[in-house]
Amino acid sequence: MKKIIAANWKNNGSKDFVKKYFSYLDKNLEKSPHKEIIIFPPDIYCSLAEELRKDNPVYLGCQNINININNSTLTGGTTFEMLEDNFLEYILIGHSENRANEEKVSLSLKTKLCETMKIIFCVGEDKSDRDNNLISSKIYSQLDDLIEAYNDSMDVIIAYEPIWAIGTGLTPSLKDISNTHKIIKKYLNQKLPSYKEKDIMVMYGGSVSFDNAKEILTSQFVDGVLIGGASLNVEEFTRICNLQI
Ligand code: PGA
Repeated sequence: MKKIIAANWKNNGSKDFVKKYFSYLDKNLEKSPHKEIIIFPPDIYCSLAEELRKDNPVYLGCQNINININNSTLTGGTTFEMLEDNFLEYILIGHSENRANEEKVSLSLKTKLCETMKIIFCVGEDKSDRDNNLISSKIYSQLDDLIEAYNDSMDVIIAYEPIWAIGTGLTPSLKDISNTHKIIKKYLNQKLPSYKEKDIMVMYGGSVSFDNAKEILTSQFVDGVLIGGASLNVEEFTRICNLQI
């Protein structure tokens, strides 16, 4: 299976940043059939990124979308047609930095509505879940949103992102990462038998950098990484993409 390496720029960047980023990738990113590279720019820079990716073997994704369930107008909204118009292939759903603001639209509904895109569905425990031994129950309840919406035609990848590891420089041990990925695959396969364990991809996110990327990417049950802060440094991101794994 391919390894996925994704850059989540969050609310960072500028036109100049995007131009320099893609020009660097153009010269330095090694093409590999064994890896899928995805970049999640802020919405406003997606079309520029699309123009600049040229022959780069790089996919593009949207970090979040405001869903308009009532089909009415929505100030500040984005539609699927706009994402498709910009040739975006992926969408992040349920990133912990957005989840808190999503009371109006349940994640299961959102997942269903995003079905035409490749979905990266984020789950992860916070510090208190971890301290109270509630990692698996928290993750299972988050996966239930996906399970409610799932159908066989969906293309979904799970991103395990412990909230306490995001942007903190802290990461779980490799053993903990592997174990959590294993229980995610097992749980999904139990609840959705048609979603075969071998086809369920789970990537890890939370303080991934060049220093730990190789050991994480080569850990058992890890199918990729979702990188925030370190992806803003195009040299570091490219070194991670070019790792021999
Ligand atoms: P980080 O962010 O790599 O800066 O910890 C990861 C994420 O939030 O997706």
